[in-house]
Parts: sequence; structure tokens; C-alpha cells
Amino acid sequence: MDSRSAPRPAADPKPFQRTGLDLLTRFHIVDKIAKIYDPRNSIFQEQGRHLFETLDAVLKEAGAASLRVRHGGVLLNGARLKFGVATYGMFKAVIEEFRARSVEAVTFLPGISREELQTFMSVFAKRETKGGDVFPRLLDDLAAAGVDRVELERSSSEEAPQGVRQSSARLFFLSIVHLKESFARNQRDEPIKISTTRRLMQSIYDHIIEDEGFIYGLTNIKNHDEYTLNHSVNVCLLAAALGRRLGLSRAELVDLGMAAFFHDLGKTETPLEILNKPGRLSDDERAIMEKHPFHGAEKLALLREFRRLPLRAIHVALEHHIKEDFSGYPRYFRKSDVNLYSKIVKVVDVFDAITTKRVYRTKDFTRAEALSLMLEQSGTEFNPVILKVFVNMMGVFPVGTLVALTTGELGIVQDIPPDPSLILRPAVKLITDANGNKVDGETVDLTERDPETGRFKRTIATSLDPSKYGLEVAEYFLAQAGP
Ligand SMILES: [Fe+2]
Ligand SMILES: [Fe+2]
Repeated sequence: MDSRSAPRPAADPKPFQRTGLDLLTRFHIVDKIAKIYDPRNSIFQEQGRHLFETLDAVLKEAGAASLRVRHGGVLLNGARLKFGVATYGMFKAVIEEFRARSVEAVTFLPGISREELQTFMSVFAKRETKGGDVFPRLLDDLAAAGVDRVELERSSSEEAPQGVRQSSARLFFLSIVHLKESFARNQRDEPIKISTTRRLMQSIYDHIIEDEGFIYGLTNIKNHDEYTLNHSVNVCLLAAALGRRLGLSRAELVDLGMAAFFHDLGKTETPLEILNKPGRLSDDERAIMEKHPFHGAEKLALLREFRRLPLRAIHVALEHHIKEDFSGYPRYFRKSDVNLYSKIVKVVDVFDAITTKRVYRTKDFTRAEALSLMLEQSGTEFNPVILKVFVNMMGVFPVGTLVALTTGELGIVQDIPPDPSLILRPAVKLITDANGNKVDGETVDLTERDPETGRFKRTIATSLDPSKYGLEVAEYFLAQAGP
């Protein structure tokens, strides 16, 4: 790729994200309080002051503060705020508040006082949202209350009904919430709701049938704080998709999904200092870490709802670190003992682990690099047939890969063509133009040819590491999905 056409790595976006998230959180809290309390109430006053201080900081820094709801996400002064596992509910609540009032954007103007801000919040929160056109009535209320340093924009059109992609993203977060609760319950010795797990797996299966590529896209979401949870959901989604390619039935896939979901349950017994230790583990620490398959199998076997849990989940918990050549851990197995589900989980487990940034690893691999590295260990670490199907499923450029095109544009792989001969020509969403300027571009089909010359219009030149370009691939998928 021509180096001049590559965008320069972006400046650290974190401070902006932090302030933006802070503003949104404060807005959400005051909006909730304002529904119940009068602005003179002391809780309202205190939270109103926090909101005002955060807003004031943004106004001083940027000169304006505009919160906008678009494509199911929230933008502050035109830049999209990222949401994660912990903030998903809050984003959703704020978006619903905007939508219920047909508001697309709220702009706070410089010079707004704390009192005016609190009055605005009170009027906004209390505005009845049922019956007729809410937006003009909200404007009237604000005018009557003397609010003139807040401007509202009406949403241009009704948002599209919830599509498959939106509900897949919802399912992803629901799964994390459920898994989190299951881990916590297990630690408190309370029963895990296996029937909920099973229902989730059934919906995951249905979603994979409808939009397989999008599910892979979602697995780009890497939340560093809740690594094991996120990892478990990714492993579950990928295992179910791989199992489907291997020809398992729906009932088998639901069992496989459940087994994958709980494969690292034993890690709740591993001390966090060891799980998150930067650098190499000592021999003793490694020995403790390597006990998680035993702990997991034991915990699953002791579950009170054991009868509803597929027996194979216990196998998977115990066997998912055993390699194809029987090295790995635990070590006492005979060759015939390793379960098919464990071999499937083994493949997707390693893939998700090495493509995630961790404190103790200096390098994390791009998705394409991970696949080629894994192929080198076909037959020793991984079952060759399962690995081959997995690599085929993910494509040479898996969904979520950042690629440079021969035109100089950069894009993110969106969908892989089902025809294996077209594996190098996926659909790509353009994110920069040929000069390296960031764009919210169209999704182009690389099988498309120029009608005059008959040549392909665009071809992938190489895959790139998104972190070097300051890109968060998951954001592009979430932008399509919305909270
Ligand atoms: Fe594990
Ligand atoms: Fe794992």
C-alpha cells in the first residue's frame, strides 16, 4: 500500500470519550431524578450541579455541547460515543428518551446557567410523551419556562424498525449480562438459571442462521475489564457458527453453545492477580491457572440444575486446553477421550484469545494473522478438519478485518461471499477515501467489475492492524446495530 494514502494514526481519543460518557451519564441521572422530584429538591440540586459542571467543562473546551441521537448511537459534537457492556443500558435509556419526544439533538449554548439547565431537565423529563405530536408541545413548555439557551432539533424521520442486526447486538449484550449473573450466582452458591441459558442459545442459533457474518462482527467487541465474560460470549457465538458449518443439528448446537458459554466458568476460582498479571506467570502461578478446567468441570457437575445442562459441557470445561497431540493440560487423557465439542471450543477459544489485547501479551494478532498462525499448528494443537472448516468460515479476511484496497481506500470486511472461489472478494465498508480522509463510506462489493475494462473495480492489497490507525472495529458494527 502507498504509505501516503494511509491515514495517520489518530490522536488518543480516550479523554474525549471519558468526558462524553460522563456528560451522558449525568444527563441520564438527572433525567431520571427530574421525573420524580421538583428542581428544588436537594438530590435534584446536587445531581444538577454535577451535570452543570460536566457540561461547563465541555462548553469551555469545545464552545458547544450537542448531544445527537443517530443510527441508534449517541454523538457528542459530531463524534460517536462508544458504549460497552457496562454502559449499554444507559445509552439505551437516553436514546429512548430522545425518541419518545421526537428529539434528534439537544444543543446547550454557552452562557447557560445551572438554574436554566435544571429547568430544562425538569421540563424535558416531565413532558408527557403519549398522545399526538410531542415535539412542538415540548418547545412550548420550554419557552413558557424561559429556557432559551438550549436548542432542540426534531428527528427527521421515524427510526427504522428493529432489524436483525439490532436484535443480534442486543442478544450479545443480554448474553453477557446473563453470564455475569451466572458467574456471580455460582460464587454465592446460588443456582444458575440454566433454562435462561438454553433460551439464549436458541435465539443465538436463530440469529446465526439469519445473519452469520454479523455475529462474527460482534465478536470484535473486546471489553478489557470484563475479559472472561466477553470472551465466553465470543467463544459461544463462534462455536455455534462453526458447529453449524460442521453440520450439527439445532439441538446439538444449543448444547454446544451452552458448553462453550461455560467453558471458563472455573476461572472464577482463579485469583484476579494471576488472571490479569502482566508478564509471565511463575511455575506456581501457572499451576493455579491450569486448574481452571478442573474447577469448571466440578462447578458444572455440582450445579443444582445439573439435569438441564448438557453432559458435554462438563467435558468441554475439562478438555478445552488439551491439544490435538495431547500436550496442553490436564494431561492424563487417552486419545479417544476428547470430545468433539471440546475440539470445536479449543479452536475458537484460541482464536478469540490471541486476537484480544491482554496486559500480559506484548502483541495481539489481527484476525487474518491469527488464522495463519493457527494453521501452522494444524494437527499438533488443533484438529485439522475442524480448523480447516473454521478458517474457511472466517475467510482469508475474516469479518471485521481492516483492509487496504488497491484504490488506496481503507475498509472493514463486512460479509464473506458464500462461494469459496470468491473468498478474496468480500463486501467491504469503506472508512477512508483514497487520500486517507476518514469517511462514513458505502459498503462495496469486491466482486464488482468495471463494465468497460471488465476488471475488478477494487481488490484487497493487504490487511492492517486497526490499533495502529486508532480504529475500533467493533464500533462500525455497533453503529449498524444501535443499542
Ligand atoms: Fe480456558
Ligand atoms: Fe477460554
